[in-house]
Amino acid sequence: MDVERVRRDFPVFTGSADDPVYLDNACQTFRPRQVIEASDEYYLKYPACAGRSVHRLATEVSVKVDEAREKISRFIGSRSPNCIVFTKNCTEALNLVAKGLSLRRGDIVLTTDMEHNSNHVPWIQLARTKGITRKSVETPADGIFDLESFKRMMTRDVSMVSLAHTNNATGTTVPAREVIEIAHDSRALVMLDGAQYVPHMKIDVDALDVDFYAFSMHKMLGPSGVGVLYMKEELAGNLEPLIAGGGAISTATFDEVEYLPVPERFEGGLMNYSGIVGSGAAVDYLESLGMEGVAEHNAALNSLVTGGLMDIDEVSVLEPVDHRLRGGIFSFNIRGMSSHDVAMILDQMGGIMIRSGMHCTHPFFLRRGIDGCARASFYIYNTPEECERFLDAVKRIIHDFSM
Ligand SMILES: Cc1ncc(COP(=O)(O)O)c(C=O)c1O
Repeated sequence: MDVERVRRDFPVFTGSADDPVYLDNACQTFRPRQVIEASDEYYLKYPACAGRSVHRLATEVSVKVDEAREKISRFIGSRSPNCIVFTKNCTEALNLVAKGLSLRRGDIVLTTDMEHNSNHVPWIQLARTKGITRKSVETPADGIFDLESFKRMMTRDVSMVSLAHTNNATGTTVPAREVIEIAHDSRALVMLDGAQYVPHMKIDVDALDVDFYAFSMHKMLGPSGVGVLYMKEELAGNLEPLIAGGGAISTATFDEVEYLPVPERFEGGLMNYSGIVGSGAAVDYLESLGMEGVAEHNAALNSLVTGGLMDIDEVSVLEPVDHRLRGGIFSFNIRGMSSHDVAMILDQMGGIMIRSGMHCTHPFFLRRGIDGCARASFYIYNTPEECERFLDAVKRIIHDFSM
């Protein structure tokens, strides 16, 4: 991958020494000119509403939304664009399934102790409101998903398995194919939270046979505020829409409602059309690079940073230490320092932006008695030189501040 060419597509980089060293990509990535222009095109050329009015501008928006849906469908290996529902983020996609499934007292939902709050709190809510039971697979100290423990917990009475495909604290990935096969053998449905997987790896939802798959476009070059929920078309009827209303309804009397088929059924209200059109361009951009190249690039940067810090006594890397198991995520702590202090000093000292704290995976950190961590996360426009600047800055912080 030609990173210098890639960087020229991102207006935020001007080529000056003041360019940001942005290593907070697991939160949200920057956008290339192609995505910004596609999003702007909506406001400049056809700023109308899709799927309702019959005039020409409305038709143009509808066509563009359909195009984006088709591109995203192809990108993730979905059999039909009808399986792609647009939401405002991954959180809404996960909530749509959790709240829509009509789970009842006695239903068991199995997660892990490493879930993002977006795949954790909805299940707590359902335990409180519907009386469902929650079980969670504990992650061992080496940070690697415990498949044997999962098998033991995957009893016949589990009705739903909902896991982060790649988690955002350590960057480890669950063996999705095995998990899905085991869960399906017990007739449980499976939802994967792909927020940290899809931006980095080639995904094929159809080959995986996953039932629901959620992710966010803003973590993969797309505009803010667009999420995607993939669902098997035949499961749509089992789900009550989370947001019911205009655009989702075929007809309604005073007492009764008939929903449109999927995907419209789940897309009540006017949508973020500009963001959806930009999302199509984001997928085009990633496809032009090739996901294998994207994954290799991020792994190479992670290898460089891991190699540069793993032997320093004051640095503890959140396990696993092997960078090949952590994709584009490097989470660490510096002895005697809070992760927020590390992040603030990196920004002030070298314009280096990382994330700190508990990364919305509070149960994971609280269970281990760790007060969060600092996290550098890499993407296609990051360079080895930026990683060297990061390494130098961390070493300076250790020298000046670590106890
Ligand atoms: C693993 C994981 N799941 C879910 C989310 C929530 O994504 P969003 O804020 O786009 O809804 C994130 C965000 O960081 C994440 O990393």
